[in-house]
Formats: sequence, structure tokens, C-alpha cells
Amino acid sequence: MTEAILQIRALVRSFGALRAVDNVAFDVAAGTITGLIGPNGAGKSTLFELISGGIKPQSGEITFDGQRIDGMSPDRIFRAGLARTFQIPRPFPRMTVLENVMLAPLGQPGEHFWKNWFSAGAVARAERTARDKAMEVLGFTGLAAKASDLAGVLSGGQQKLLELARVLMIEPKLILLDEPAAGVNPALLEDIIDKIAALHARGIGFLIVEHNMDMVMRLCRPVIVLAQGKVIFQGEPETLRGDASVLDAYLGEVAA
Ligand SMILES: Nc1ncnc2c1ncn2[C@@H]1O[C@H](COP(=O)(O)OP(=O)(O)O)[C@@H](O)[C@H]1O
Ligand SMILES: [Mg+2]
Repeated sequence: MTEAILQIRALVRSFGALRAVDNVAFDVAAGTITGLIGPNGAGKSTLFELISGGIKPQSGEITFDGQRIDGMSPDRIFRAGLARTFQIPRPFPRMTVLENVMLAPLGQPGEHFWKNWFSAGAVARAERTARDKAMEVLGFTGLAAKASDLAGVLSGGQQKLLELARVLMIEPKLILLDEPAAGVNPALLEDIIDKIAALHARGIGFLIVEHNMDMVMRLCRPVIVLAQGKVIFQGEPETLRGDASVLDAYLGEVAA
């Protein structure tokens, strides 16, 4: 028995009459790279928004690392060790790559409320620590040479790596990646796959939404398939092809 780092139970989120996430339940076992796939409009991004706290469910429960997180703010969820990246990267384009990484909410004395409570020396020390950590994660993601470039000039693939660097500031236990391969050139994609594998080897878990089936087959065990807001398959990716409901879901997309 592997322990579940993330448990989703009876989760529902509607937009008007549309049940985008319709009574979804599954576990993500600790230390796995779990794939989440499904046709466009299946509810994958909505599910990520629910898990990371950007939107609230109408009903259901989300438990992360033994703690209920549905209803928590995105910042608290992030600091609890559950980090996400976006399908479309959202860096601050007019700030440098280093500044973008240092913006990750660390819950340390810095720009915020706590500043009034700490000495100038403590704030400066915290900033130095954040800068050192930011340079370390930029080194890992291969972006160290771009540290003082404006984030807006990075390529699509480099922006994906910047998003990854940002979430590594908190030593996450689970990282949600929304379409890490989208808009990334093949060479940089190999780089991203290597980084995910290296982080996985260090014990970090992943839940990955991805359309690139080659990447899913290489990285993800198990795979969960979502269609029209419902889980229609859970299992090893090798058994996907023979599954009639999965075939139907994707054929439906082609026919639509
Ligand atoms: N903020 C929103 N308001 C209204 N409808 C939404 C909103 N977000 C998503 N939807 C709808 O919910 C469904 C699921 O969308 P989404 O989660 O983005 O799917 P996926 O990421 O699997 O392509 C789609 O029909 C989409 O149009
Ligand atoms: Mg999406």
C-alpha cells in the first residue's frame, strides 16, 4: 500500500448549468508521476484550479498530506508544499528572471506584513537567503545565465522552466504541471523531461496534465483519464489503448 499524498473525493464544480468537474474522486500516491489526460474541455484545468485554491468547489473534499485544503487560500496551499504551474506561463514580463523566482511566497520576512516586525538586518538576511535559493533553482533549471534578463524575452520553453524554478523555491511535495510540453521546442522538451525525472528521483511527486502522449507514456505511472468532468479510466498507460471508454471519449472529440 502506498500512501496517498493527494485525495480527491466527490468533487463538484459547475459553471452555470455546466458541471466542469462532476463528482470526481481519485488518489495520487506519494512519490508518483501521475498523468491526467482527456479531451479538450474535459475539466483538467478546472480541477487544477480547484486543487491549488484558485477557485472553490461547490461540494466535495480535497486532502493534501493529511490536511483538508479545499477552502484554503492559494498561498497557504502553496506553502503547505503543493505547487502548480500554468498551461500558459504567467511571468511578470518586465521583471528579471531572478526577480520572478524570488517573488514566490515563502512566508519569510520580506516585502509583506512581517517587515514591520523584523529588524532591517533580518530582512536583508532573508532576502540574501531567497536570492541564494533562487540562483540555486535557476542553476538546476538551466536558466542561471538568464537571471538578469527580462522574463518577457524568454522563449515558450524557457518560460515553462521559469515556472518550474518558481515552484522549486518552496521544496514542494507535489507539483501540478499543466501542459508542460505545450509550445516547447523538442530539444527543450527533453530538458524539461530530464528535470521532472531528476526531481522525481529526489522524492517529489507530480500530477501532470499533458496532451503529448509520448511524454505521458515515458513519464506517467499511473494515468487518469477525465472526460466531460468525470474520471473514466485509471491505470497503467500501456492499457489505455485497449480501453473502450477512453477510445469513445477521444473519438467524440474528433467527431465534434
Ligand atoms: N471560468 C469559467 N467559466 C465558465 N466556464 C468555464 C470556466 N472555466 C472552464 N469552463 C468550462 O469548463 C469546461 C472544462 O474546461 P477546462 O477545465 O479548461 O478543460 P480542459 O483543461 O480539460 O481543456 C469547459 O467546457 C470550459 O468551457
Ligand atoms: Mg486545460
